[in-house]
Amino acid sequence: MTRQETILVVDFGAQYAQLIARRVREAGVYSEIVSHDISAAELASRQPRGIILSGGPKSVYAEHAPRLDPDVYALGVPILGICYGAQLLAHELGGSVERTGRGEYGRAVLQVCQTLQPSAREALAAAPSSPPAKQPVEQSAAIQPTRQKSLSADPKTPTQTPNLLLANLPDTQDVWMSHFDAIAFAPAGCSVTATTADSPVAAFEDAKRGLYGVQFHPEVAHTAHGQAIMERFVREACGTDGNWTPASIAEESVAAIAAQVGEDGRAICGLSGGVDSSVAAALAHRAIGDRLTCVFVDTGLLRKGEAEQVVETFGRNMGAELVHVDASDKFFERLRGVSDPEQKRSIIGELFIRTFEETAAKISGGGDASVNATGSSVMGTEFLVQGTLYPDVIESGTGHAAKIKSHHNVGGLPEDLEFELVEPLVRLFKDEVRQVGKALGLPEEIVQRQPFPGPGLGVRVIGEVTAEKVALLQEADAIVREEIAAYSASDPENEIWQYFAVLPDVRTVGVMGDERTYAHLIVIRAVTSEDAMTADWARLPAEVLATMSSRIINEVPQVNRVAYDITSKPPGTIEWE
Ligand code: XMP
Repeated sequence: MTRQETILVVDFGAQYAQLIARRVREAGVYSEIVSHDISAAELASRQPRGIILSGGPKSVYAEHAPRLDPDVYALGVPILGICYGAQLLAHELGGSVERTGRGEYGRAVLQVCQTLQPSAREALAAAPSSPPAKQPVEQSAAIQPTRQKSLSADPKTPTQTPNLLLANLPDTQDVWMSHFDAIAFAPAGCSVTATTADSPVAAFEDAKRGLYGVQFHPEVAHTAHGQAIMERFVREACGTDGNWTPASIAEESVAAIAAQVGEDGRAICGLSGGVDSSVAAALAHRAIGDRLTCVFVDTGLLRKGEAEQVVETFGRNMGAELVHVDASDKFFERLRGVSDPEQKRSIIGELFIRTFEETAAKISGGGDASVNATGSSVMGTEFLVQGTLYPDVIESGTGHAAKIKSHHNVGGLPEDLEFELVEPLVRLFKDEVRQVGKALGLPEEIVQRQPFPGPGLGVRVIGEVTAEKVALLQEADAIVREEIAAYSASDPENEIWQYFAVLPDVRTVGVMGDERTYAHLIVIRAVTSEDAMTADWARLPAEVLATMSSRIINEVPQVNRVAYDITSKPPGTIEWE
C-alpha cells in the first residue's frame, strides 16, 4: 500500500485547529493535528506532504510564546502559516511583526496584489545591516520533484508565479480576520501577495521555497474563497493527489481490522444503533464476517421506542449477528442514590463492559460463567469494536486514542478490561463517519441518525437517575423529537444537529386548573453544529416552541414548566452532564 498523503496541522492553541484539519480533508488529503512542541525529527518521521501552522492566542513577543523547532524550517516540506502561524514565520524567518496597538477582527476586504511586492524589508533595502534573524534553508532535494510537479501541473499557474495561493481568485475578496499584532515585513525572500486596510502584509509567499503565510483565516466559512485557498496549498503547493475519500477510508479500515483481529480472532461490537457504532460494526463485519457479534445493551436509559427500533433497523440492514441484552434492572440498581455526573458515567461505562464480557463468555460457550468480576478471562472473544471518533482524541490533548474515547464513549473503562480495543473510526470526524457509512451502503435512517451519548438518558436526567424519572423524560423527549422532526421536514434548510429533552433536578410552582402545582421542569435543547466541537442553539420558530411546551405540559404528567436552553458551545456543552 502506498503511504497515505498527510498534512500535519501544528496547533499553537488555535480555536480553529480542528477546522483546519477538516478543511484539508475536504480537499482530499488526510490531516492530523500535532502539538507545537513536536520535534523536527518526529515531524519528519511522519513524512507529511505539507505543514500548516495554526493561529493562536499569543503574541510572538509574549513570554513563553509557542514556537516551532527551528529545524522544521529546514525539512523542505511546504509550510502554510495561518494568523499566528504566519506571524511566527515572519518573526523567525527574517520579517517582522508589529504591535500595532489595535486589532483587526471580523470581516476585512483582501486586496490581492496585482504586481509582486517584494518583501517590504528587502524593497526598502534600507536596512542591509539587519539581516534576517534566520534564513530559511534551501529546499531539500527530496521534496523538489513533488513541488516541481505541482507548480507546473496547473496550466493556469506558470511555474515561476509567486502568487500560487491566491491564483485565479478575485482581486478583491472578503476574508475573516482575528488578530492583534500585524505582520510588518514578510519573511526574507517572500513576496507580499495581498493586503487589507489594516494589514500591509495580509498574505505572503515564496512558492519556490514552499513558504506561505496568510494573516486571515481561510478555514472559516466567512472567508469567501477560503476553501479554494486551502485547496491551492494542499493540492498545488504540496503536490498531493487528494485520494482521501470515504471509499478509500472504508477499504483501508477493513484491511486494518482484518490485520488486527487476525485469521482466528473473534470480536464483539457494542452497538448503540447510532451512526458511529453502526459504521464501526459494518466495517468490522466486512473484515471478519461471522467472527463478529454485535451486542445491543438495553440499559433502560434509551429513548422511547429505541430498543425495538434499533433491533428492527439492524436486522433489516446489517446482516451481522445481533445479541440483544436487557440489562436495565442492573443499571437502575447501580445508579440508585448517585447524582454526580462523572460517577454516573463511570458506573454506566463499567456496566457496559461487564455486560459485554458476560455476553462474550456466553457466545464462546461459557454459559453463565461469571466472567471477569473475579478477573477470569473472556473466553474466545479478544476484541471489542468501538466507534471512537477523532474529536475525542483531540479533546483529550494526547495521542492515545483508545483510552480517551472509551472514557468519553461509555463513561470509563474498568482497569481490568480484558478486550483489545478495535477503533476503526479513530481518525475521523462525525461527518466523515457519515460519508463512510454512505460509501458502505448503509441507509439514511442509520447514517443520518442524531448523535446519542453512550450513557444515554443517564446524563439527561440531572441528579439521581430512577426508572420513573427516565419514563417521564422519555415521554417529553418523544414530543420534542416528533415536533422538531416535523418542523425540519417542512423546512429542510433548517438542519438541526441534535434535539432532545432534559430533566433537571428542579421542581417549580405553577397553577393548573386553579390548583397549585409543584412539579418538574423540562428543558428543550436543540443545537446546530458541524461536528459537535462547537454548537449554537437552534433558532426555532416561536410556534414550534409553543406547540412543544403545551404538548409536554398537557401530555406528560408531573411537568408544569418548559424552558428552552439558549446556550452555545462553548461556553456550554451540548449535553447537560
Ligand atoms: P458535548 O456534551 O460534549 O457532546 O458537547 C458532544 C457530542 O457528543 C455526544 N456525547 C457523547 N457521545 N458518549 C458518546 O458516544 C458520551 O459519553 C457522550 N457525551 C456526549 C453528545 O450527544 C454530542 O453529540
